[in-house]
Amino acid sequence: MADQMRANQPSLENYWMPFTANRQFKAAPRMFAEAKGMYYTTTDGRQVLDGTAGLWCVNAGHGHQSIASAVERQLTIMDYAPSFQMGHPIAFEFAERLAEIAPAGLDRIFFTNSGSESVDTALKMALAYHRARGEGTRTRLIGRERGYHGVGFGGISVGGIVNNRRTFPTHLPGVDHLRDTHDLERNAFSPCEPEFGVERAEDLERIVALHGAESIAALIVEPVAGSTGVLIPPKGYLQRLREICDKYGILLIFDEVITGFGRLGTPFAADYFGVTPDIITTAKGLTNGVIPMGAVFASRDVHDALMIGPENMIELFHGYTYSGHPAAAAAGIATLDIYKNEGLLTRGADMAGQWQSAIHGLKDLPNIVDIRTIGFVAGIELKSRDGAPGKRAYDVFVDCFERGLLIRVTGDIIALSPPLIMDESHLDELVSILSDALRRAE
Ligand SMILES: Cc1ncc(COP(=O)(O)O)c(C=O)c1O
Repeated sequence: MADQMRANQPSLENYWMPFTANRQFKAAPRMFAEAKGMYYTTTDGRQVLDGTAGLWCVNAGHGHQSIASAVERQLTIMDYAPSFQMGHPIAFEFAERLAEIAPAGLDRIFFTNSGSESVDTALKMALAYHRARGEGTRTRLIGRERGYHGVGFGGISVGGIVNNRRTFPTHLPGVDHLRDTHDLERNAFSPCEPEFGVERAEDLERIVALHGAESIAALIVEPVAGSTGVLIPPKGYLQRLREICDKYGILLIFDEVITGFGRLGTPFAADYFGVTPDIITTAKGLTNGVIPMGAVFASRDVHDALMIGPENMIELFHGYTYSGHPAAAAAGIATLDIYKNEGLLTRGADMAGQWQSAIHGLKDLPNIVDIRTIGFVAGIELKSRDGAPGKRAYDVFVDCFERGLLIRVTGDIIALSPPLIMDESHLDELVSILSDALRRAE
């Protein structure tokens, strides 16, 4: 198969790749052809250990026949049905199954096609919720620096990554940001949740004092910021955000596009931290990355507030042609079966000790300024080379790829988030390839 792929290489000109240095990539492409279990196979036939669950999404590992069969079966029975004013059983069945694992009360499920759409949906739900309750002045949205909430205009507005924002200056109006929670000086090499920084939650109090609570609709945060390098919230921080939101009637949205579906060793980060938001956004692990899909979990309070007015009126003027797509719902149900049968939504908790000690064991290698782990996630922060930020981590990334390991880098931070099926031998392999690459990246 890999030989066949090599012989029939398509032109690289036409595909404009997302979040990729296109010219650099096309000069030296890195291509996957196949995937099974914990491994990819490259187009030149090499095995590459998946240290990132694809893009934080293939939580159950690659190539599950049961998911493929469920999708095929559904496509044969019914390929598509309209999602507006019409329904089909499998979307309802999937929502019911999701409600069973959702944090208590967050069991009203709205389907989207991606994390970005889930975020925009959640922000719109928050605005609609306040309006329906006669508090239409609540229009401000609060995000956090170094937050990533996808690439829609809503998501980049509340997000806090400069390169995602500066090229597109027309953001949503009325958005503020909390400071991020990263505090290298006080928290470097914390084994799990860092000790210091709970006071940064008080930024929300300052924003309320500045604008007035009656102007603020919602706060959105990633419980653990993934894309900007695995920033773990300090102890008590999320609890404090919940308290302040409750005090002022602000909705709390957890963006769990990465942390959802077992990544921290619990079904959701809300379970891990014991903090229940009003809305949770998900995607990625929802279908094990097999078919694009997202889901927004809303509290009954949020949902019920909108179930007003004449019953023939649409309650929320929002939705997607492919909301609850039958093939995606089939993939999602089959994925939930695997999570359940293999205990994957809590497996990260069983492996967390081994994961933590193996990754923290790298700390004496050159140029490492911090290591952070939680559940089945790790961030390894490297010292930047003078005048070349990001270059050292990129070299490690390419070196690892060439020697058989997929990692992810953001600036000079390495992020690891393997499929939740990872065992000890995979962990040894990951650590061995990564430590060699770190030693070479002087
Ligand atoms: C926390 C978070 N929110 C939203 C998104 C956007 O998801 P998508 O790329 O599916 O639109 C991501 C993607 O990585 C994410 O990590």
